[in-house]
Amino acid sequence: MELLFTGANGFLGRHVAAVVAEEGVRAVPWLRRGDAAGAERAPLEDAAAVRRALERRRPSAVLHLAARADVGACLADPEGALAVNAELPARLAAACAELGVRFVHLSTDMVFDGTRAPYAESDLPRPLSTYGRSKRAGEEAVLAAHPAALVVRLPLLFGDGLGLARGATEGLRRALANGGTAKLFRDERRSALHARDAARALITLSRATCSGLLHVAARDALSRHELGLALAARAGLESGRIEAIAQAQVPSAEPRPSDLELDVRRALALGLALPSVREGVERDGARPR
Ligand SMILES: NC(=O)c1ccc[n+]([C@@H]2O[C@H](COP(=O)([O-])OP(=O)(O)OC[C@H]3O[C@@H](n4cnc5c(N)ncnc54)[C@H](OP(=O)(O)O)[C@@H]3O)[C@@H](O)[C@H]2O)c1
Repeated sequence: MELLFTGANGFLGRHVAAVVAEEGVRAVPWLRRGDAAGAERAPLEDAAAVRRALERRRPSAVLHLAARADVGACLADPEGALAVNAELPARLAAACAELGVRFVHLSTDMVFDGTRAPYAESDLPRPLSTYGRSKRAGEEAVLAAHPAALVVRLPLLFGDGLGLARGATEGLRRALANGGTAKLFRDERRSALHARDAARALITLSRATCSGLLHVAARDALSRHELGLALAARAGLESGRIEAIAQAQVPSAEPRPSDLELDVRRALALGLALPSVREGVERDGARPR
């Protein structure tokens, strides 16, 4: 029995692949490009091919990381965002449900509006962005198609981009490169998690039996400015060039949620070891390049 994980070439997918290699997990990446040996290649948009792949592989679980995760790309193409973030996962979930395969789907803290943190799983979502709305639609569609599915809401992720210019650590590196200045929000709080910690939790959850919504995040929250200072100190970067700004100072095409602290009591009760944001930063191996 093995785990199939989609989005394996993405930011989080690369951390999942690293944990798979480190821990010797029996898992196969499900890719649309690249040449990883043994990878599953069925196009996720092709329901018949997906079904054949699941029947052939009979995985113990499918961990669905593939998504349109870029907020700007979702705003530019709301229908496409809905297709990739809601309709596609719902079809995949339905196929898994029919074949009795565990399905773990990924969502985001961006389903909340940021006015009533900390947010528990039972709190009412009210996404402010096209991305957040498409991910909320995905949560509902997946749980309707596969009532035993697990939908994991993650916060802002940081950590080495593993070759991709993604994640909060890489963003900071880019901003400070060549003597630049980083401007980070003092009024935007996140329960930011190291991508490696998220990956470890997801592999554990792929083997578990819990279902429904689950918040997997740091046990507390920091502002983006506080997070930036902590990441810079850890990476030996010049923190004097990190400036604290307010959301209101930066025009934004869509409103930005202010405080998305997640209540993680359900995850802790399930036995997941979740760090504080600063503990996660301490595990960041990031060094300037
Ligand atoms: N990063 C964060 O801070 C964060 C926070 C909260 C939640 N999440 C959630 O975590 C999940 C992973 O995010 P991420 O940051 O790893 O995103 P990412 O770096 O943008 O990776 C997304 C992956 O999805 C793949 N993909 C997109 N559309 C596809 C399609 N139609 N068929 C097959 N593959 C497709 C991409 O494939 P290619 O490589 O081939 O383009 C890419 O590998 C998403 O569900 C996201 O919403 C992320």
